[in-house]
Amino acid sequence: MSARKDYPPLPSVPHHVGIIMDGNGRWAKARGLPRHAGHKAGVDNIRPVLEGCVEFGIQVLTIYAFSTENWQRPPDEVSGLMRLLGMAIRQQLQELHRNGVQIRHSGRLSGINPELQKQILHALEVTKHNDRIVLNVAFNYGGRSEILDAVRQIIRDGIPPDELTEELFSRYLYTGDLPDPDLIIRTGGEYRLSNFLIWQAAYAEYYTTPTYWPDFGKDELYEALLEYNRRERRFGRVLDPEPTPV
Ligand code: IPE
Ligand code: IPE
Ligand code: MG
Repeated sequence: MSARKDYPPLPSVPHHVGIIMDGNGRWAKARGLPRHAGHKAGVDNIRPVLEGCVEFGIQVLTIYAFSTENWQRPPDEVSGLMRLLGMAIRQQLQELHRNGVQIRHSGRLSGINPELQKQILHALEVTKHNDRIVLNVAFNYGGRSEILDAVRQIIRDGIPPDELTEELFSRYLYTGDLPDPDLIIRTGGEYRLSNFLIWQAAYAEYYTTPTYWPDFGKDELYEALLEYNRRERRFGRVLDPEPTPV
């Protein structure tokens, strides 16, 4: 299928989009390939989707690449995923940097192999002043451990209970000063968050598609943005209140 060339402008573009990149294993299985081939194709798909995000005016893209629960996969698959992140950093960092991408990491560094930790920290350091788009990589990420890590740090900092607000709490999360996601996309067809941005996504719009992640392209990203534009975000309010009776 050839990619569609023109995308009519959208009335409203989400500031921050989160993507649960699911379905790599099934993508590979459908082709008679090992799961690792699906993960490789999945990593290769990040670049065109990131380009689409820049083109459509999205300012922050968070991608869920490895969850705290994914450690329970077979050791070979886990080490393959670790190697893929290292390779992606080695092969793509310079180009991402040239294109003005600011890389961030959300997740626990501890638990990741020290060499890979160094590579991640290097990528953050090199790109920290870039401002075209933020690519926030959720790697060794779990929403619950993020909340626990925040609570631990808040206690260590001696924040008095009455001074703790939702805003202050949010700043203790891995996402720090990033705005909450407006739209969460999940590929691979499941209807669950799988521990992704569970605090931050409180009012995000949710879009799921059966397309496996390696097949999710710019056209479908645009479809998701069209669907986002059809949603009415109410944040608990009534948008057209009845006139007050006199
Ligand atoms: C998502 O694809 C990638 C990671 C979780 C690392 P999966 O590997 O979960 O693919 P499926 O869901 O088994 O198809
Ligand atoms: C979510 O996918 C995690 C990532 C995409 C990194 P999973 O495949 O791990 O989620 P479950 O197990 O189907 O909930
Ligand atoms: Mg999966």
